[in-house]
Amino acid sequence: MRTISTMCCNFHLILLIALALFLRISSQHGSKVEVLPGFEGPLPFELETGYVGLGETDDDLQVFYYFVKSENDPQKDPLMLWLTGGPGCTSFSALAFQIGPFAFKDEEYDGNLPNLISRPESWTKACSIIFVDLPFGTGFSYAKNVTAQRSDSKLVHHTHQFLRKWLIDHPEFLSNEFYMGADSYSGIPAPAIVQEISNGNEIGLQPQINLQGYLLGNPVTTRKEVNDRVQYTHGMGLISDELYASLQRNCKGEYINVDSRNKLCLRDLNYYDECISTLYLENILNRFCPEVVVTPKKHEALYRRSLTQKFNTTINSNAIVPDRRCKINFAFFLATQWANHESARKSLHIREGTISKWERCYKTDFEYQISSSFEFHVNLSAKGYRALIYSGDHDAVVPFNSTETWIRALNYSIVEDWRPWFLENYVAGYTRTYSNQMTFATVRGGAHLTSYNRPAESLAMFTRWIANVPLTEQGTIISCSRH
Ligand SMILES: *[C@@H]1O[C@H](CO)[C@@H](O)[C@H](O)[C@H]1NC(C)=O
Ligand SMILES: *[C@@H]1O[C@H](CO)[C@@H](O)[C@H](O)[C@H]1NC(C)=O
Ligand SMILES: *[C@@H]1O[C@H](CO)[C@@H](O)[C@H](O)[C@H]1NC(C)=O
Ligand SMILES: *[C@@H]1O[C@H](CO)[C@@H](O)[C@H](O)[C@H]1NC(C)=O
Ligand SMILES: *[C@@H]1O[C@H](CO)[C@@H](O)[C@H](O)[C@H]1NC(C)=O
Repeated sequence: MRTISTMCCNFHLILLIALALFLRISSQHGSKVEVLPGFEGPLPFELETGYVGLGETDDDLQVFYYFVKSENDPQKDPLMLWLTGGPGCTSFSALAFQIGPFAFKDEEYDGNLPNLISRPESWTKACSIIFVDLPFGTGFSYAKNVTAQRSDSKLVHHTHQFLRKWLIDHPEFLSNEFYMGADSYSGIPAPAIVQEISNGNEIGLQPQINLQGYLLGNPVTTRKEVNDRVQYTHGMGLISDELYASLQRNCKGEYINVDSRNKLCLRDLNYYDECISTLYLENILNRFCPEVVVTPKKHEALYRRSLTQKFNTTINSNAIVPDRRCKINFAFFLATQWANHESARKSLHIREGTISKWERCYKTDFEYQISSSFEFHVNLSAKGYRALIYSGDHDAVVPFNSTETWIRALNYSIVEDWRPWFLENYVAGYTRTYSNQMTFATVRGGAHLTSYNRPAESLAMFTRWIANVPLTEQGTIISCSRH
């Protein structure tokens, strides 16, 4: 008897030691970030970074994430996973440029580590957010063979797997309401991810996820958005009535797959391209700023190459500094300098030797498999998930009218018709709600990345929606629909 009981206790002891070891190992998945180089003083928010392994071995399929706890009440506030578009742009973009608690300071680049400042309009005022580096090839995530991991369906599957594993490591968030958030290209995979999470819950996958809904900003949905660009640019006064009429007549609404024998349509499209080629489509009011990858020779005036000679080689000797008036490109540039700096990597707990050069976007070899996410919206609407679909109304890449068109095609009845919503007594945008629990909202003056150029409006919209109150909560309720 004695021996048996000793054995039992020894066995328990071994279990306890094993558990302790396991917890130690698993706690290495996430580490608290105390300071960020370039940010003055201790962080006024809670940031954790870490990896979640999805592969069979420790050196394969390591997904990197940034987790910012709600600055309000992390125990009660919802949890959101955010996926940036691209495909293949790191969610650090959303964290540092759109909805996170810090931003790059807009100041002349002198070759030193860029500075960071607080962003008061962070969505972490109302919820906790996981910013994830997926698909593989993006940000600090790594895999043995990145090429083999890059497609829509892999992205969907990896995000779902990541989320369940992350929740196992963070059981304190299991009961929080969960939302999926995404923008731009991720309007394609995000609804599929929500469906996979929902299906996983239905077949009893553990842990169960308290899925409530999703939100999408200027989301690519049908991949036919380019067709709607013609209408949109005409409506905004960027092409003439005559050219628009001719385009309609000759191309018959199809501007993507044009028959090479249709010479009249091709001719009109050439005129069209001339008209809009010097516009910044992501924000039609902004200065035209080519991507930083454009060869400097072609757009010499847009770059100040002289500065590159002054660079400290420990940062990036080949860097080309974009024109500072190209605000977002300049900020992207600063981010790239920052993320490639040794001290930033150390504070983020990046595993040494895993990523040589951090690039904000990696778009090579991505396999497009989902031609439209419309059917996913159909399915998710039927299941009753809440959805917020918002559009910056100055984006020509995914024009608001494209988005409204597919929402209308879901055939749900309107609950509250088109009306303005307000922030501090001015019209921040327009909104309409549908009986499938879907809210559509425009953000007036908003760009493709609305939360970047309209931060206060975007935060107000998000805070109201996530708390399940109407966007029109504040200010006079005006209905300006024709019903
Ligand atoms: C990586 O994956 C791609 C696509 O599946 C494959 O063609 C290639 O051979 C793989 N490379 C290696 C080194 O295994
Ligand atoms: C918006 O979309 C509808 C339906 O596709 C179309 O009839 C209408 O002309 C569009 N309006 C603008 C301003 O693009
Ligand atoms: C480059 O930066 C490093 C570290 O910040 C510094 O030690 C070094 O002196 C700098 N070199 C030049 C040429 O400025
Ligand atoms: C929508 O749901 C139906 C029924 O469960 C399923 O057969 C279909 O594949 C789903 N659509 C998509 C795009 O996944
Ligand atoms: C919406 O209604 C139209 C016209 O009745 C129909 O052709 C279409 O299939 C419907 N869409 C959905 C998603 O049910």
